[in-house]
Amino acid sequence: MTTLARRLSTIAPSATIEISRRAADMRRQGLDIISLSQGEPDFDTPAHIAQAGKRAIDDGQTRYTDVDGTPELKQAVAAKFERDNGLHYATDQISVGTGGKQVIFNALFALIDPEDEVIIPAPYWVSYPDMVRLAGGMPVCVECDGTQGFKLTPEQLETAITPQTKCLILNSPGNPTGAGYHREELIALGEVLKRHPQVFVISDDIYEYLAYDDWAFTTLAAVVPELFERTLTVNGVSKGYAMTGWRIGFGGGPKDLIRAMAMLQGQMTTNPSAISQAAAVEALNGSREFLEEHLEIFRQRRDMCTAAFNAIDGLSCRAPEGAFYLFISCQGLIGRKTPEGEVLERDVDVARFLLDAAHVAVVPGTAFGLGPWFRISFAAATERLGEACERIAHACETLTDASMTERP
Ligand SMILES: Cc1ncc(COP(=O)(O)O)c(C=O)c1O
Repeated sequence: MTTLARRLSTIAPSATIEISRRAADMRRQGLDIISLSQGEPDFDTPAHIAQAGKRAIDDGQTRYTDVDGTPELKQAVAAKFERDNGLHYATDQISVGTGGKQVIFNALFALIDPEDEVIIPAPYWVSYPDMVRLAGGMPVCVECDGTQGFKLTPEQLETAITPQTKCLILNSPGNPTGAGYHREELIALGEVLKRHPQVFVISDDIYEYLAYDDWAFTTLAAVVPELFERTLTVNGVSKGYAMTGWRIGFGGGPKDLIRAMAMLQGQMTTNPSAISQAAAVEALNGSREFLEEHLEIFRQRRDMCTAAFNAIDGLSCRAPEGAFYLFISCQGLIGRKTPEGEVLERDVDVARFLLDAAHVAVVPGTAFGLGPWFRISFAAATERLGEACERIAHACETLTDASMTERP
């Protein structure tokens, strides 16, 4: 047997793996599985952006570039931060990587020493705690449940900070809940952070453009300028521009951190794809007219799914401020019995039941650090979403109250 590095034992196998494996098996058997587990828009990359990528190939932009981004892309990123967020970053305060994921990974590896603590509000994007562990740090997950809109409060932040706290990760609008912080909420968190100068902040804004109703996106470094020097503002083209496969993310932050991140990336992957960088320049500088249409479709799907799930006995959810996820409480299904006689004890059981009985794949909340909930993505074709809601409703109707049926 291969002796693998000890660091791998610090990361837990994903709770989503079993569901994904089962869904894939069932599909291979010819069953019609609707997957609501994917975290990417179902739209194609807008044509003008794809064209820019094709042009880059034809023009011979097929060689190595500067490690953390071409000058053109860094300029486009600086202009984006200025235009959208009122943040003034020079090009040497900008780092471009292979997706937002690599930018966050680089930052954590550049910041974290063994035993350093990183505060992560839960539910969280699945990758944060494992990235922190791989960097040798300790994730400190702070539970933020539905009653507080899944958002970290200033009191919780103050309590979680210790002398070992090195970093806080904020994600708004967030994966898996779509919860978005209001300006005043960020200012209140900022007041706490101002009292603890050793705490650095990674603000993961990857879902910035996917904002609904009257919720307005804001980002920490802009609303609390005193924190600008100790915040890395992370964003990318994956979600807003429907460019998940192009793998371009970026961050703005202090020069010394940006330099350290480039050094790490230089020993890992070197530059992100030159072709993708050229397409990202077009994305950031070009027309964003398509976004209104995408947003309108997402908004309709969000409203349809929120209504459908809230009408199912045992399930409940709130309409999120942003992103394309619904985080659904299945507390009301816990303790119920399937027609096969299995009692649903945890959200993982609920997810398995929905896959077996409704042929719909969802992700259990425990994967994101909060149960008993599950996440669906509404970035799937509208008809399929409608069908998935109906299938789930029918499946839930077949459940019975375990305590009632056990009575003599
Ligand atoms: C909260 C969050 N941050 C970052 C990422 C990474 O995005 P990218 O595809 O740009 O690496 C994701 C992707 O799912 C995400 O959900």
